[in-house]
Amino acid sequence: MDNRYWRIEDRPEGFDFASAFALIEEPMPALKPGEIRIRNAMLSMDAGTRLWLTEREDGYQPPLPTGAPMTGLVLGEIIASRADDFAEGELVRAFGQWGDYSQVDAVASGAIMLDPAVADRRAWFGPLGMNGWTALWGIEQTGAAKPGERVLVSAAAGATGILAVQIAQALGCEAWGIAGGVEKCCYLTQEIGIAGAVDYKRAGLDSQLDAAGGFDVYFDNVGGSLLDAVLTRMNHYGRIAVCGLLSDYGSGTRTAPAEFDQILMRRLRVEGFFSPDFMDQGERLTARLRDWHETGTITMPYDVTCGLENTLTAYEKLFTGGNIGKVIVELDA
Ligand SMILES: NC(=O)c1ccc[n+]([C@@H]2O[C@H](COP(=O)([O-])OP(=O)(O)OC[C@H]3O[C@@H](n4cnc5c(N)ncnc54)[C@H](OP(=O)(O)O)[C@@H]3O)[C@@H](O)[C@H]2O)c1
Repeated sequence: MDNRYWRIEDRPEGFDFASAFALIEEPMPALKPGEIRIRNAMLSMDAGTRLWLTEREDGYQPPLPTGAPMTGLVLGEIIASRADDFAEGELVRAFGQWGDYSQVDAVASGAIMLDPAVADRRAWFGPLGMNGWTALWGIEQTGAAKPGERVLVSAAAGATGILAVQIAQALGCEAWGIAGGVEKCCYLTQEIGIAGAVDYKRAGLDSQLDAAGGFDVYFDNVGGSLLDAVLTRMNHYGRIAVCGLLSDYGSGTRTAPAEFDQILMRRLRVEGFFSPDFMDQGERLTARLRDWHETGTITMPYDVTCGLENTLTAYEKLFTGGNIGKVIVELDA
């Protein structure tokens, strides 16, 4: 059986993915013991995977080698299995390959069987997936947000951010977002109903932040100069939950806050967190997120691209700001 998949040919420069990937077609190897073969119905586009494409050895996981298939979260049906407890015909989510099919070790790939009763399968990538777990953990555990507190989220109109602001609201906080452009800011305040949005692409970021007032929790997806701008607006004893550093991903910069001293002056706690560290809590987190999702407390807009051949266009949106909500590639249109 042949598989088409995206192979990493080179380290991307910035966000030039077309020069770094090639769409390959070749026969799939035979299944080894413990492996499953998934017919991918959807691919999840996740900004953090950009780090896997660099040479950096000091990241939270080693880089993917060139010549390897691109790895990412996939969702689909198991069409062949040599793994105990993973039966053919089951709907599954796993770290697989950007291809028509994924062939993975069921355990090493974190494969999870999914409830087919969830009407919109895309939710398994957004509210009920890694983005949901990350948003909930970052707001509640790392950010330790309490009812009545003021919570600010960067990249707030993206998949992780849009869940973080809604979860903050569900926990009784006043949620604010930072996003690029009028359309995204209006979406956040009018459709999602958060207290306010700061447009970092508009002139006058400082005055917008001053008008917003101080924050108790900053859920940061971006780092860089935005982090500096927020550090000087944190309330005393505030918490900064470092979720991601988007401003560094394509530029090779490393966030090093010029306003670092505000951590002492304002007695802030700054802490990074990483979803694989709490994968064992997935079932519990999913149950809470599912309740909120089913009651409409949290919603997710989807940015869907059809066709494996268009994957790179979808991926690029994460870094150019082309998306509102979760970016997905659908393969079985
Ligand atoms: N710690 C963890 O375990 C974990 C897990 C999942 C995700 N994450 C992190 O969550 C963040 C969001 O990832 P995602 O996959 O959900 O993507 P996403 O938010 O759906 O898309 C990324 C968005 O970020 C904004 N952005 C991109 N570059 C930016 C920059 N230089 N400055 C400011 N905003 C920028 C863009 O919106 P604008 O138009 O607003 O610029 C873009 O739409 C990433 O930092 C990722 O690493 C962390």
